[in-house]
Amino acid sequence: MTIPVHDVLIVGGGGAGLRAAIAIAETSPELSVAVVSKVYPMRSHTVSAEGGSAAVIKDEDSLDHHCNDTIGGGDWLCDQDAVELFVNEAPKELTQLEHWGCPWSREPDGSVAVRPFGGMKIKRTWFAADKTGFHMLHTLFQTSLKYDPVKRYDEWFVFDLIVQDGRCQGVAAIEQKTGRLQTIAAKAVILCTGGAGRIFPFTTNAAIKNGDGMALAYRAGVPLKDMEFVQYHPTGLPGTGILITEASRGEGGILLNKHGRRYLQDHDLGTPLDVNDPNHPQLKSMELGPRDRLSQAFYHERETGNVFEDAMGTYVHLDVTHLGEKKINKKIPFVRATAKNYAGVDCVHEPIPVRPVVHYMMGGVHTDIHGATPLPGLYAAGECACVSINGANRLGSNSLTELLVFGRRAGASAAAFAKENSVDADAVESQAQARADRIKSMYAEGKEGEGAIAEIRDALVDTTEEGAGIYREQKKLDATCEVIRELKARVKDLKVTDRSKTFNTQLTSALELEFMVDTAEALAFSAAARKESRGAHQRLDHPERDDDKYMRHSMAHRKEDGDPKIDYLDVVITRWPPGDRVYGK
Ligand code: FUM
Repeated sequence: MTIPVHDVLIVGGGGAGLRAAIAIAETSPELSVAVVSKVYPMRSHTVSAEGGSAAVIKDEDSLDHHCNDTIGGGDWLCDQDAVELFVNEAPKELTQLEHWGCPWSREPDGSVAVRPFGGMKIKRTWFAADKTGFHMLHTLFQTSLKYDPVKRYDEWFVFDLIVQDGRCQGVAAIEQKTGRLQTIAAKAVILCTGGAGRIFPFTTNAAIKNGDGMALAYRAGVPLKDMEFVQYHPTGLPGTGILITEASRGEGGILLNKHGRRYLQDHDLGTPLDVNDPNHPQLKSMELGPRDRLSQAFYHERETGNVFEDAMGTYVHLDVTHLGEKKINKKIPFVRATAKNYAGVDCVHEPIPVRPVVHYMMGGVHTDIHGATPLPGLYAAGECACVSINGANRLGSNSLTELLVFGRRAGASAAAFAKENSVDADAVESQAQARADRIKSMYAEGKEGEGAIAEIRDALVDTTEEGAGIYREQKKLDATCEVIRELKARVKDLKVTDRSKTFNTQLTSALELEFMVDTAEALAFSAAARKESRGAHQRLDHPERDDDKYMRHSMAHRKEDGDPKIDYLDVVITRWPPGDRVYGK
């Protein structure tokens, strides 16, 4: 049987995947590139990014300032060689996007506008109103259409990587429209599948973000790095988790507790505060403190009964009314529409209810600065990868830029690898057969597993939040690990009763749940092993940062039966020795 064969196959059609595809098509037009995505590319989660994308452009800024903000924000867990490279390439990538048609918002003099963002000492966030991800993804998608060698497999669900002769040589997938199982061979594969916010109950992430690529790599023997670092965004809508962009605070929005107090002044955001000093920098910039610290402040306000509590749950107020209708409509129109549609609030006249919500995974598939994983032929970029430029807490608006810089780099590396290597399509196809048989058996006539998908998913998201939420401690983390052990056994026999071939979402939900359990396992066991507090990983029982023991990346290695092995990798320090995180200056 003949199967499709490509030089490079990219799993995921969001920003990183499309940027990788364009890079290959532009520089190596002789190569055949395929983008396999479980959703139509314009429905990838990049589309929902709002506030902006960071890169140095203004005279008062510098590459060193961007490095400083990123490394300090990451609580010294970023690899500094990767950060420097990222910061250097960032302006080129955003300018390239401009040339491809991205409608960046402008200053009155026509130059590219930038806005302040959380954790930055100088404003450098490029934006397209508050629909930046939509415009960036549109630009990348329309650009990719120019290139004939880019073949798309839209709405194909990848459920396995094929490793042959110690190299990744393809994927096993389901064409969702027909239910057909199809192996696709490739000389190199790039994972660009995004994050895994859905392993928590309350997230800004789309329902498609289940850790697919992380789990695929983890099962293929690639370690997952720094998985314990999960970013809570301080302002999501209660109830739905929909993001209210940091741009609303960048434009001047303030956070108030139920007593109407700007409560952030009562918390340590990284600079000692004299509340009697009206000119203290923290008082001016507190809403733009780093995301981890702002989310932790909400936790403490809730503990002391200072937040609102009603049918929507617990929340505080984000007030933008003082900005006025004109500015709101110009700078944050999507915030106004979102608050109206999903919270019934017109933010021109009333405050918006908000609370912290899981937003981003700092950890992911271990790669080097070229996007290469330790498995030859396998690359990763974007949120599913950990290069690492985000360390223990990502700087707001670095992620859109990251998927461009490292999407391009992973594309270039995979293309070079494909030129030097061949693919054994027959061996790939025969190896994939066993995987296909397993999927067929999951929804074969007469076979019904035991595990109820929704029940197991609920148990999973409850235990991640309980044990690995904003604050953590050993007892609760151990309990979470125990629940995940049980769930890992239960997902081996999920109950799939839908026999249909066309868009069998029960089957794909079952496969996604398997991915989620693997991803959550790496997270929980890595968190249980890190007995210190750093960035987004805050331990009530180990409140201090411990550089001697833990200024290292955690690496989770999966075992089919039994707990993952956690070991560590040194952080690359070049020019920025570890120090205190200081903000508001
Ligand atoms: O608030 C936001 O617009 C989020 C941006 C980001 O995560 O970088």
